[in-house]
Amino acid sequence: MVRNWRTLDPVSQLGRARQFYDRIPAEYDRGMSSWPARRVLERRRAKVGEIVRGRILDIAFGTGLSLPHYPASAWVVGVDASLGMLRLGRERAKRLGRRVDLVQMDAEQLAFADGTFDSVAFNLCLCEIANPEQAVREAVRVARPGAPITFLEHVRSHLLPVAIVQDVFNPLFTMLVSDHINRRTADTVRRAGVEIDSVDRWFLGIFNLIVGHAPEAGRA
Ligand SMILES: C[S@@+](CC[C@H](N)C(=O)[O-])C[C@H]1O[C@@H](n2cnc3c(N)ncnc32)[C@H](O)[C@@H]1O
Repeated sequence: MVRNWRTLDPVSQLGRARQFYDRIPAEYDRGMSSWPARRVLERRRAKVGEIVRGRILDIAFGTGLSLPHYPASAWVVGVDASLGMLRLGRERAKRLGRRVDLVQMDAEQLAFADGTFDSVAFNLCLCEIANPEQAVREAVRVARPGAPITFLEHVRSHLLPVAIVQDVFNPLFTMLVSDHINRRTADTVRRAGVEIDSVDRWFLGIFNLIVGHAPEAGRA
């Protein structure tokens, strides 16, 4: 099914995410380029860049903050719900002299053939996508067998006191910014068929870099 983005129900989670990010691309980009945000995230963005290669699918590309870390030889395809975010992403790619293909697309319904990509990267988006398991299933489908799939995400901490605070504040975050702060992302990723190789936790376990791969051909 092809989405009609203009008539997308604004109260659906996808519609809300699109409207929200269409309003704030410049502010988002500025905030996430600030020193504190870079301090928390930059090293892991770079780590993702060391893992992905070839034809890379960046799910929820946003303003392209991970692009500088991807290998210069890579062919990057970025999908995102928000055209406003993609517009800034295109400008960043131009500034960097990088060729990227950017498409407005729902991560839960990827319009790509099976086994198209050599790598797939999720950066800070499974907290927002309405059905994260479906989005990861789609990534597994469009990845070639054995392809690396990475997840740089904020998640429910493995430390119980932190997780309890996240559980308490989650309804507020979900209501205000459509952001789930207590998702058990490693479990979701595993259920969706990714074989997990490593989980790197930092910042009290609130951030995870989960590195895995699509199952080899012939394995479910
Ligand atoms: C927090 S931003 C992350 C952007 C970028 N990946 C980064 O690392 O800065 C979340 C992004 O997810 C996108 N998004 C939310 N739901 C989506 C969906 N179902 N399909 C595609 N993109 C989605 C939003 O438009 C937004 O650009």
